[in-house]
Amino acid sequence: MTRIILAICVVTSIFLSIACVQKGGDGNTAGVSSDTIKVGVYGDLTGQTASFGQSTKNGIQLAVDEINAAGGINGKKIELIVEDDQGQPQQATTVVQKLINQNKVHALLGEVASTNSLAAAPVAQSARIPMITPSSTNPKVTEVGDYISRVCFIDPFQGATMAKFAATTLKAKTAAILGDVNSDYSKGLTQYFEQEFTKNGGTIVTKEAYTQTDPDFKGQLTKIRNLNPDVIYIPGYYSQVGIIARQARELGMNMPLLGGDGWDSPEIWKLGGEALKNSYISNHYSADNPAPEIQNFVKAYQAKFNTVPDSLAALAYDAAKVLADAIKRAGGAEDSAKLKDAINATKNFAGVTGTITLDASRNAVKPAVVLELSPAQSKFTFKETIYPEGMSAPTASPTVADSNANAATNANTMSNANAANGANTNANANSAANSAAANNTNK
Ligand code: PHE
Repeated sequence: MTRIILAICVVTSIFLSIACVQKGGDGNTAGVSSDTIKVGVYGDLTGQTASFGQSTKNGIQLAVDEINAAGGINGKKIELIVEDDQGQPQQATTVVQKLINQNKVHALLGEVASTNSLAAAPVAQSARIPMITPSSTNPKVTEVGDYISRVCFIDPFQGATMAKFAATTLKAKTAAILGDVNSDYSKGLTQYFEQEFTKNGGTIVTKEAYTQTDPDFKGQLTKIRNLNPDVIYIPGYYSQVGIIARQARELGMNMPLLGGDGWDSPEIWKLGGEALKNSYISNHYSADNPAPEIQNFVKAYQAKFNTVPDSLAALAYDAAKVLADAIKRAGGAEDSAKLKDAINATKNFAGVTGTITLDASRNAVKPAVVLELSPAQSKFTFKETIYPEGMSAPTASPTVADSNANAATNANTMSNANAANGANTNANANSAANSAAANNTNK
């Protein structure tokens, strides 16, 4: 018995050393002999915010089914290997290690929550396996290294978008912030909202904290009620926000509640119900947008999954398509350094969440939308589009002429922290027009 085990060990170590030898040059060529393109997907398919992982998986599945049905990439099909990390950072690290070392994936798509992407990104970076996060918006995620990129905007822009909306559209002078202390996403948005709100002449009356295991938020809310701010900014995830909204209204607090993309889940209506009236969020896209490229996606997704795609599904779809496009341009996925360069060179890619151009920090420079919560219809209703600096509302084009009437009155431009990061902010006219077509419209 011992001999057999010993023999297995010897054989395994020979294989392992061959695999190591193959990892030559700049990148990682471990998956060289594969007859499919292996893409690892990791996310929270179970746990508190499981709708994030589910939507992401569905969006990727739809994109990959379309790509494979059309013959794959240079004759190779994409094979998805999906892992559940239960929304736990430690688990995210573990499953990404497994996807790289055992499954030999050529690329990774994930995570949603910035904290989980931050936990796994160093593993991908040191193994030199390109990772595209569809939806993690904290700036630190792509700072991990050149193998890490994203197809969404980042939180300095998202936080500032809501601060500007609060100060300008809602004419708020005072705000309280109630944030999740264990979430990099929430901590970042707290900081960026505060910066822009005070820059606009507003005052933050208090910053209160919660954690995802808190059963009750009335202590923090009572403190906020005593200060009577014009608005409350809650940069958290839907799983707590729904309950927070309910408890705030129970305490007689009727001021607008503001948030970010983390509120986006069909589950929020069950958790928050009518208490979500008079609330607004920043987000990546609006499923209401009549632009044909968006409605085609919404139809295809609904036919497959029987639900309206949220922004996670849309971003995940875009991330998979951006990856496929890069694999094509790189002439395959075997040379990970080449693939990483191709991903990072993504320009003017027409996604459903807007035109995707990665800047020098591998972040997408895109407009954000402000949506109003309509609990009676269980839907997010489009309010306005906010453009990053250097990108302006498009001039009317025949296909989006109707919706551009809205853009003209609703569009705002604001400075984007991307610019400070050395980002390419001269999005060309074409790119701006496409983004707007994808984002600025209303029914
Ligand atoms: N931006 C969030 C984060 O970084 C994740 C998220 C994106 C959640 C889009 C919902 C919708 O943690």
